[in-house]
Amino acid sequence: MNFSPIELIPEQTAAIVSRERRVNRFVRGLDERLGRWRLGGRRGDYDDQRFEFEGGAGDALRKKHYDKSLRLLWKAEEQIPWSTFRDCTKNEKVLLELAQGSLDTVERTHLQKIKSAEFRAQLDLEYTPEQKQALVNILSTIGHGEAYAWMVSTELLSNGVRGTGARAALTMQVMEEAKHFVVLRELIHAFDCPVPRMSVWEYIVMERTLKSRGLEKFFGMNVLIEGFALNLFGLLGSLPGLDVLRLFHLDESRHTALPSNYFSEKPLTQRQKSSFPRRLRRSLLLAPTLPLMTYFEKDFAVLGLDIYDFAGSMLRKVAHLSDRVGFELLIPQEKLLPIVNQIFNKRASRTRRHHVFKKYHRAETTLGKAERAREAEVFELNQPPAAAN
Ligand SMILES: [Fe+2]
Ligand SMILES: [Fe+2]
Repeated sequence: MNFSPIELIPEQTAAIVSRERRVNRFVRGLDERLGRWRLGGRRGDYDDQRFEFEGGAGDALRKKHYDKSLRLLWKAEEQIPWSTFRDCTKNEKVLLELAQGSLDTVERTHLQKIKSAEFRAQLDLEYTPEQKQALVNILSTIGHGEAYAWMVSTELLSNGVRGTGARAALTMQVMEEAKHFVVLRELIHAFDCPVPRMSVWEYIVMERTLKSRGLEKFFGMNVLIEGFALNLFGLLGSLPGLDVLRLFHLDESRHTALPSNYFSEKPLTQRQKSSFPRRLRRSLLLAPTLPLMTYFEKDFAVLGLDIYDFAGSMLRKVAHLSDRVGFELLIPQEKLLPIVNQIFNKRASRTRRHHVFKKYHRAETTLGKAERAREAEVFELNQPPAAAN
């Protein structure tokens, strides 16, 4: 390019630079001292000298989460065209229209209305009102969970993970949780059933997770809650009208894998893994999931499903992952699972007339082949538990 430079007085420009340096030294020096004395100081966890977030680049993590999320990003408009979402790009819309034949605006609006009505009619055809209500009760648990996942991941992003790759991964999670919440809400409303509030058991788990400090949020959110959601999507994604849940499954599997990938680069210290207060706090966080399962027994039963099969399948994977990641509990998984199984059998024998003892912790309720393979990978089911070090 042919620029015509403006001529400046060199002494003046030098003075500007040196003044900036003086003020910079003062401000940064002050912030550093305030930080050392724990009186505030720099809030941003960012190293502008190295053009990197504190914690380093973390390119492997970025590739596994941020890049993969973008690659696998799905659009609600394409997957559930009857919804109010308009998130497709122009090109994606052209592809959709090609698939639908070319339609003018009026025709398209009409088609969307029909599709929405069609979808509701499909639900009415497939499910009885009681089954629809049961599905809404179960799905809304996840819906409320998605709202919390959105909040927790936002906090982890601003005040938890370190490094550029990890921040990029969390940014995608925040975006995906937002999408999950709004899309799931619309899917649930399409059932035309009252949406229940959170059960108190869920409320306790969610609130405690949101209040957990720093990386402990990974246990409550990415291991426990998302492990629960992943299993539920694996179970319900095969039901008529709910195939979009398979895409949720895909996203949640990435979220569940995040702590493992993060800690492989920035391992937890032995104290963070196994100090008594932390093990106690994690176990107390896990405890309300037991009454939560019982709470849903009726809704599962309406759908011909045994809640304890689901609970056993889910807890086995979550406990295994927790062990692998290094989030130790008060009781190790080999001992915990048989105890939990006893509790489930005891409860089942109270609510069912002819209950026969079952090994619930050996159950597998994820139905799709692809979903099972994905879970085996993220829960690291085919690898032995990590040796304590
Ligand atoms: Fe989610
Ligand atoms: Fe998630």
